Amino acid sequence: MQSNLISNTKKANLVVLASGNGSNLQAIINACQNNQLFARVAAVFSDNPNCYALERAKLSGIPTFQHIWSSYKKQFLTRNDYDKDLAVKVREHSPDIVILAGWMRILTKEFLNFFPQQVINLHPALPGCFPGIHAIERAWDAYCAGKITHTGVMVHYVLDEDVDNGPVLLEEIVPILGTDDLDILKTRIHLVEHKLLISALHLLIKEDSTTVQKL
Ligand code: GRF
Repeated sequence: MQSNLISNTKKANLVVLASGNGSNLQAIINACQNNQLFARVAAVFSDNPNCYALERAKLSGIPTFQHIWSSYKKQFLTRNDYDKDLAVKVREHSPDIVILAGWMRILTKEFLNFFPQQVINLHPALPGCFPGIHAIERAWDAYCAGKITHTGVMVHYVLDEDVDNGPVLLEEIVPILGTDDLDILKTRIHLVEHKLLISALHLLIKEDSTTVQKL
């Protein structure tokens, strides 16, 4: 018997903001392509015109956009102006979730207010630990000074300007091993990030529907 059911389901729209290598963006692209996630990457934005994240997106046919702070600064425009324009451009892609995957700028309320409880961030350390840049290096130094035995990774909601802080979606401990050096530890942490980010997106995206879980 022929089914007259018509699927009205739609994949979740993801917009990714990235400033660097984009290995986490790649993990998201892969998960979408192999149907691990019921989602599509609608657009990738970067504040860094030369970053490899943009190349990765282009290679997968994903629209890319540069949003460059220096051109705002030259015109004596503010961070709020920059963030508001960014939000307007991101909104054009109707994101269900905005993912900060190695995005190296602090977003103000001018941006966040556009996407309440829809912005998530990845941090290569545990909640409350090593906020800001060079988190892995600082964890390594703390380990070498005998202060810690493990570090970790977390994915959290971004609700305000507090750096690498917000309600935690998922976290995972990464023990620091006697066989590690800084490079090995970085590699191990990045592998955990690629996995944890997809698991966090799984928590948020309901299969076969556009429903995105909020706080
Ligand atoms: C990741 O370690 C992420 O946690 C941090 O910046 C790095 C980005 O890596 N915020 P990549 O650009 O995704 O490879």
